[in-house]
Amino acid sequence: MIMIITIDGPAAAGKGTLAKNLSQKYNYAYFDTGMVYRAVGLEMYLQGKDLSDQDSALKIAQNLTFEHMHELAQNPDFRSALGGKNASIVSAYPEVRAALLKMQQDFATAPVFADGTPAQGVIYDGRDTGTVVCPHADVKFFITASAEVRAERRYKEFLQKGMKADYEEVLAEVKARDERDANRATAPMKPAADAIIFDTSNLNINEVTEKACEVIDEKQKR
Ligand code: C5P
Repeated sequence: MIMIITIDGPAAAGKGTLAKNLSQKYNYAYFDTGMVYRAVGLEMYLQGKDLSDQDSALKIAQNLTFEHMHELAQNPDFRSALGGKNASIVSAYPEVRAALLKMQQDFATAPVFADGTPAQGVIYDGRDTGTVVCPHADVKFFITASAEVRAERRYKEFLQKGMKADYEEVLAEVKARDERDANRATAPMKPAADAIIFDTSNLNINEVTEKACEVIDEKQKR
């Protein structure tokens, strides 16, 4: 049986780091689902499409493959603030979400590592992975933190990567993204009813990882 773990929550709450820690510890594959929306947003930008052009976004989403998504991830704009903003705009279109759902769900049927080796479990990270993508996941986490703490983390990440950043702008973008992600009509970001919620404002990533492992170990005993 494939073990499915979902980690949802707002931008820069620590989902990615937690997912990588858990994937290393348990030797499970990892699917960062924000990538599918980042790929569509970036492709729109590269094709010179207006982000309000829902038909073009849908076509791009329908034709997106796992391989092309990973190619696009090499582009410096994929992880930039602009990339996050564009992803959040196209992700609000219900048809785009529907077109990208199967690709995300299929991964759990035969999860693989980057080199193609099969894995016994999968860790999803995103906004709706415990509610929409894998409502039957074995363990669900929802990771959050104050907007200020998350903006500070994102700001430092940009600087570490040698990218230009302004804290106030990053904070405004974090808040704008939260607003869009939480209030869109389709699959708004919210914890699943059976999710375990961690607020990482005052917890470091090792403490969060430890707590998450306790939950997973307990689940595996049963
Ligand atoms: O997690 P990341 O910052 O890469 O996500 C980029 C954007 O993609 C988010 O702001 C959100 O709008 C969208 N997203 C989503 N559902 C997911 C993952 C990401 O709507 N499962």
